[in-house]
Amino acid sequence: MRIQTIRGTHDILPGEIELWQAVEEVARRQASLYGFSEIRTPVFEDTRLFLRGIGESTDIVGKEMYTFTDKNDESVTLRPEMTASIARAVVQHSLLEQNPVARLWYFGPMFRRERPQKGRQRQFHQFGAELLGARNPEADAEVIALAWSVVASLGITRVRLEINTLGSQAARAAYRAALVEYFTPHREELSEDSRNRLDTNPLRILDSKSPADAPFVERAPRLHDFLDDESRSYWQQVCALLDALEIPYTVSDRLVRGLDYYEHTVFELIGTELGAQAALGGGGRYDGLVEQLGGKPSPGVGFALGAERLLIAMEAEKVVPPVSARADVMVIALGDDTAAYSLRLLSLFRRAGLSAVSDVQRRSMKAQFREANRLGAKAVCIIGADEVAAGTAAVKILATGEQTTVAFAHAAAHVLSAVGQ
Ligand code: HAM
Repeated sequence: MRIQTIRGTHDILPGEIELWQAVEEVARRQASLYGFSEIRTPVFEDTRLFLRGIGESTDIVGKEMYTFTDKNDESVTLRPEMTASIARAVVQHSLLEQNPVARLWYFGPMFRRERPQKGRQRQFHQFGAELLGARNPEADAEVIALAWSVVASLGITRVRLEINTLGSQAARAAYRAALVEYFTPHREELSEDSRNRLDTNPLRILDSKSPADAPFVERAPRLHDFLDDESRSYWQQVCALLDALEIPYTVSDRLVRGLDYYEHTVFELIGTELGAQAALGGGGRYDGLVEQLGGKPSPGVGFALGAERLLIAMEAEKVVPPVSARADVMVIALGDDTAAYSLRLLSLFRRAGLSAVSDVQRRSMKAQFREANRLGAKAVCIIGADEVAAGTAAVKILATGEQTTVAFAHAAAHVLSAVGQ
């Protein structure tokens, strides 16, 4: 019996992992430029965290969670997203008491039982950032700017930033009531999903892709007509800051996002040529979440980018991040009794900061040269009985073909000076 990966999950193999590492590196670098620190939380949590945090009427909680009962009868869930976990961690460790603002970023696997297709998996990865403790438009702008910088630094240009405001909780509640009133007379004409959403989460009807819903969605009341003055002013300030930062955006008053914790600013980064799964990432403000999870009321704003979709977008734009060599130096050991000497030489290279391997299969010199090329090595170091006896190494710099015999102790310095690291 051959056991394979579960549907919607993937191995990331050598050859592909280099791209992932490059993406992680760019994201990590941008996050630190913006003053964010990394946080790692458990991959599984108490199910109640997501029920309360994400909202029972959402697709994620309703249909997509990997939930199971542990041996002690407690219900646990593989995290479908990180914002709830971060809010939990902030409360649990009183992070906002030590410092009134927390800037946190994360990268890791998330789990949702969705129907797999290109850009949609059951185990996928998010890079995200959350800024907690500040309720001012500059916090929203900083977070959006970070998301934008990550995407831009990866070389992705075919992307559109869509933003919207959901207004305050009160504005949202009034709008919800207006939508129910508007859609109810058309209930029987709506798609099945939208009929269900009318009872549970009417704002999500605006998200519907079903042609049956389109004419009704088109004429639905507009959320912006329900905004109170404070919400409207907050929104205008966020837009003005994005203008000042010269970040281009489109206002999309149908953008509602699929998680219940949002209020005020919401946004998505849409890959313009990505097809059905076009959202590279999304986020928004969630001022009620920390309190909902038992903490002192603390505002927050953040986003998450889907790593798989970033990679698809990079591939579509033929962005090739630099793939670093898998070994700087290959030690070619020939004949018997060269192993100890070669291993000591490898240690010397590694202590000098050069990645180095030897051929552990004892293949021919030709095969070992081929391997050195495959690994992207800049130099090879040939060790035979003569070198061992003389305490030397024959170092060949592959770019120039120049070969020099140097003393064992000088081999690393010689490579470093020749390849300029
Ligand atoms: P989300 O929109 O559910 O937001 O997910 C963010 C991104 O994760 C999506 O835009 C997409 O790129 C990626 N993603 C989601 N589901 C899948 C999937 N099944 N397969 C592949 N990629 C996927 C959140 O998760 C919020 N926690 C974002 C946030 C942070 N809001 C505030 N702070």
